[in-house]
Amino acid sequence: MLSKKPWLGELSAKADVQTLRDLVSSLDQRLLDSRWDKQRKAVALISDLKADRILCHQAEVSFERDAALSADERERLTSTLRALMPWKKGPFHILGESIDAEWRSDLKWQRLAETVGSLDGQIVGDIGSHNGYFMYRMLAHGARHVIGFEPFAQLWFTFALFQSLYRCEALHFELLGVEHTELFAESFDTLFCLGILYHHTDPVGLLRKMRRAIRPKGRVFIDCQGIEGEAPLSLTPQGRYAGAGGVWFLPTMKTLENWALRAGFTRFERIYSAPLSIEEQRSTAWAPVQSLADFLDPENPQLTREGYPAPYRHYLLIRP
Ligand SMILES: C[S@@+](CC[C@H](N)C(=O)[O-])C[C@H]1O[C@@H](n2cnc3c(N)ncnc32)[C@H](O)[C@@H]1O
Repeated sequence: MLSKKPWLGELSAKADVQTLRDLVSSLDQRLLDSRWDKQRKAVALISDLKADRILCHQAEVSFERDAALSADERERLTSTLRALMPWKKGPFHILGESIDAEWRSDLKWQRLAETVGSLDGQIVGDIGSHNGYFMYRMLAHGARHVIGFEPFAQLWFTFALFQSLYRCEALHFELLGVEHTELFAESFDTLFCLGILYHHTDPVGLLRKMRRAIRPKGRVFIDCQGIEGEAPLSLTPQGRYAGAGGVWFLPTMKTLENWALRAGFTRFERIYSAPLSIEEQRSTAWAPVQSLADFLDPENPQLTREGYPAPYRHYLLIRP
């Protein structure tokens, strides 16, 4: 885990490679913390199980094996997968076990895929990569390296399980945050910033950092929770929003474009803008959590329980 970081050699000459090397090795120390013992043991429990192949170009990212699992192997697999619950992003299919996650992340990718097009030979960043679901979908578009930025150490172990089942040398999961993109000057061909900006107090500042992190012909895909309308406005909840803490600015699509404009981007392509549905985010057996339906007003699903407009999602492609 504290091993080589081959992606460091792939960054531009302008990137602050030494600072990044020191930073990622110090962040990796978090993985040794005893609070992750449950996850560590879960991954180790099936370290002998290997997939023959991985399929990343379909809704379910699938780890497949030709030989059937023995009863003991199946039992250990189930126990490992259960220890890594709740599965919030997916779906996955792991050695015969279908994992229906809280989020139908495949729907998001389906809406983005045509605009994403080929990532052949590209250095790609996935900011807020969660368990890595989208990193696998990016791989299927030809990315040379995908660097996942995900500071939540628990999710590192889910990704470590995937890598233990089937190693993909092109995928790199780091405990970095969006704020660290400033260290990557002119390094990414494509950056994905999906489900991140509204969780931060300074979305324009983060867009500026991303602007610096992409190559001159680079691009950034944004998915931001927001509100409906064309007015240049955003909503700041007093406290929780749809049950979630840490929600700061919910923009209209126009406001999202204005943030990007003021961060130095000049070209915009609107990809998608629609209400978030309870088909896309819902409680499942693998994620028995309170989900969107629990956080909308039961009398009027156009409103959250707190009385705010119900969430929209805006997807936007931005370029310098
Ligand atoms: C709403 S989820 C979005 C996940 C995924 N990108 C998607 O679109 O479904 C936000 C993710 O960002 C991660 N995160 C939290 N703080 C972050 C930070 N400072 N930089 C990058 N990601 C962060 C969270 O742990 C979580 O996995």
